[in-house]
Amino acid sequence: MYEVTVEPFGYTFECADDETILAAALRSRVFLRYGCKHGGCGTCKVQIVNGDVDLTASSYALPPGERDLGTILSCQSYPVDDCVIDASAMNLDEEEFYSGDSSRRYLTRIESVEVLTADIRRIVLRHQPGTVMPFTAGQFVNVTVPGTDAERSYSMANGSADNARIALICKIIPDGLFSKFLEEQARPDVPVTVSGPFGTMSVKLSHREIVMVAGGAGLAPLLAMLVDLAGKGSRRPVTLFFGARTAADLYVLGEIGDLQARMPQLRFVPVLTEPPEGWGGQVGLVTDALAAWQGSYAGCDAYLCGPPGMIEAATDLLVGRGLRQQNIYFDAFVPTGTIPVG
Ligand SMILES: Cc1cc2nc3c(=O)[nH]c(=O)nc-3n(C[C@H](O)[C@H](O)[C@H](O)COP(=O)(O)OP(=O)(O)OC[C@H]3O[C@@H](n4cnc5c(N)ncnc54)[C@H](O)[C@@H]3O)c2cc1C
Ligand code: FES
Repeated sequence: MYEVTVEPFGYTFECADDETILAAALRSRVFLRYGCKHGGCGTCKVQIVNGDVDLTASSYALPPGERDLGTILSCQSYPVDDCVIDASAMNLDEEEFYSGDSSRRYLTRIESVEVLTADIRRIVLRHQPGTVMPFTAGQFVNVTVPGTDAERSYSMANGSADNARIALICKIIPDGLFSKFLEEQARPDVPVTVSGPFGTMSVKLSHREIVMVAGGAGLAPLLAMLVDLAGKGSRRPVTLFFGARTAADLYVLGEIGDLQARMPQLRFVPVLTEPPEGWGGQVGLVTDALAAWQGSYAGCDAYLCGPPGMIEAATDLLVGRGLRQQNIYFDAFVPTGTIPVG
């Protein structure tokens, strides 16, 4: 058993050898911000001031540079010593910290399940009458896989004004727990519990041009952001790169067309690795298209969403083309089953 002290509150709680700092904090009825709880989202970052931890984290939520500067993911850190951590970057006030975990669980019912491609589904969950879940486009929920205690993270794909419903765009993973539920049991009216909303990804206020890069189901939060930008009458230029394998793997093209009608400054660039004959669009990886599209991305904001490898490659390319690292916002769809240690 170790003692963990959280600054700037000066509060100390006990953490068992096999317990993460986040789990021990929540058990002790104080609050640290968190999201996926499995090293994928980076919401639970704190600074370690004293002591040491074993960190089993994904490198995507915590790049080596940040780790070297003492940042840790509290959901993946097991103390090996008494520790002092600094949670100032979470911007918690005393009331939030001492109120404990106030994230809500919602009992929803499935409204619809839609086949978007061979391996992508859209599931819409409806809140109980009179209930809404306020959220920001770019955030995600943790869905409890029905019949189990397991949770899986999925980003909202609907605009934030539509907060009586939660639309999720989910990739079907062979033998995945939630994927199996989606394929075999999900149908209208089936109850599904979610908790949230979580995550800090959102369209940041600025006048900069926006570059969005989506791979596969990574379109989900970007679609929500576009719906919100259109709803606010935004005039910021946006270019959406959408990488897929074949033309059959592209989806919601009609909805993107509707958004373009409302936002004439929205450019849509589908990119296929296996294009059909006569395809007039971009070919190759989404990073090939980014490289070919314009010489410099200086002065842009970038929002990247999809598999960790795509995010890494797109980040390298955009930074190499002048986009400032701090203007890149991303959600890596890190699998729940295994976490790469990097
Ligand atoms: C913040 C956040 C937001 C996310 N939003 C979305 C979203 O909007 N849409 C979406 O489809 N996914 C999203 N994900 C990823 C999703 O949570 C995982 O893919 C999840 O593990 C799938 O659950 P499952 O039960 O179907 O498969 P699991 O039972 O978790 O996995 C089964 C096996 O497949 C592997 N696996 C799981 N997911 C993947 C993957 N994506 N690629 C390759 N191998 C995988 C696992 O390592 C495991 O071995 C998000 C992840 C995070 C962290
Ligand atoms: S809650 Fe720790 S990385 Fe998501």
